[in-house]
Amino acid sequence: MKRVLLTGAAGGIATWLRKLLPPVYPELVLTDIREPKDLQAGERFIQADISKADEIERVCDGVEGIIHLGGRSGEAPWETILEANIVGCYNLFEAARKAGVKRVVFATSNHAVGFYPRTTTIGTEVLARPDSRYGVSKLFGEGLGAMYAYKHGIGVTALRIGNVGDRPLDVRRLSIWIKPEDLVQLIRIGLERPGLVYEVMYGISDNQRSWYDNSRAETLGYKPQWRSEDYAADVISAEPSEGKHPAAEYYQGGTFCAEEYTADFPSMKMKS
Ligand SMILES: NC(=O)c1ccc[n+]([C@@H]2O[C@H](COP(=O)([O-])OP(=O)(O)OC[C@H]3O[C@@H](n4cnc5c(N)ncnc54)[C@H](O)[C@@H]3O)[C@@H](O)[C@H]2O)c1
Repeated sequence: MKRVLLTGAAGGIATWLRKLLPPVYPELVLTDIREPKDLQAGERFIQADISKADEIERVCDGVEGIIHLGGRSGEAPWETILEANIVGCYNLFEAARKAGVKRVVFATSNHAVGFYPRTTTIGTEVLARPDSRYGVSKLFGEGLGAMYAYKHGIGVTALRIGNVGDRPLDVRRLSIWIKPEDLVQLIRIGLERPGLVYEVMYGISDNQRSWYDNSRAETLGYKPQWRSEDYAADVISAEPSEGKHPAAEYYQGGTFCAEEYTADFPSMKMKS
């Protein structure tokens, strides 16, 4: 696969991927609603708003694979989520179908299942428990992915990404961290593994404190090279000890669970 489109190219994850992917995909095409600040001379960038179908269709022309990162990357008012992550994601898959794209890797999120307690380990087949409008929009994207895979034959991978970074930033992220190099491995499985129809995998490194059963990713060839535990002592000693909402501490989704929370936490904890 040569011509691969990277949406959300001006964003945080893409800034890492723009360094790591060109040796693998020599004809990488970048798109975003805004131009990346540090765009290099050799990079090919096409500006497009994914909430506008005609704009994203133009960008998908001639593309073999798509890494779809573009959209709202956290909680927001419904109108924002609707445009960027619901309408935008639909437009992206429709444009992919019309252009004959073979593979799509979609960046979904741990927040699609954020309302599982930290005491549980979950696989990819658990019931959805989104912790935000953002998490709901990611499930919508996972659903679209399955539909376009089985109905239109596009090979789709939904990566439930934990948190991407050069190192885990806090105690919660010791469980969900992924190093960009490991993310590239998962993306390559999604774009290149023969016979792939529709897969959901957790985007995490080799984390001893993981809350996820990522055995499906391992079956498909994923061998994460980075371990959050190597940073654990530093991270734990730097963690503030007070001031967190109990729901943020109890559930895997952290502060996303606590935002706008109106349930009675002690009774919810008893029930779930
Ligand atoms: N950063 C993480 O650790 C993490 C974790 C889980 C999931 N994800 C998902 O991965 C993707 C990338 O994350 P990120 O941290 O790089 O996010 P980011 O916010 O840094 O980048 C998202 C990019 O999408 C672009 N965008 C927003 N609306 C758009 C539109 N209408 N048309 C075109 N482009 C638009 C933005 O301009 C931005 O550059 C997101 O979909 C996010 O939900 C990220």
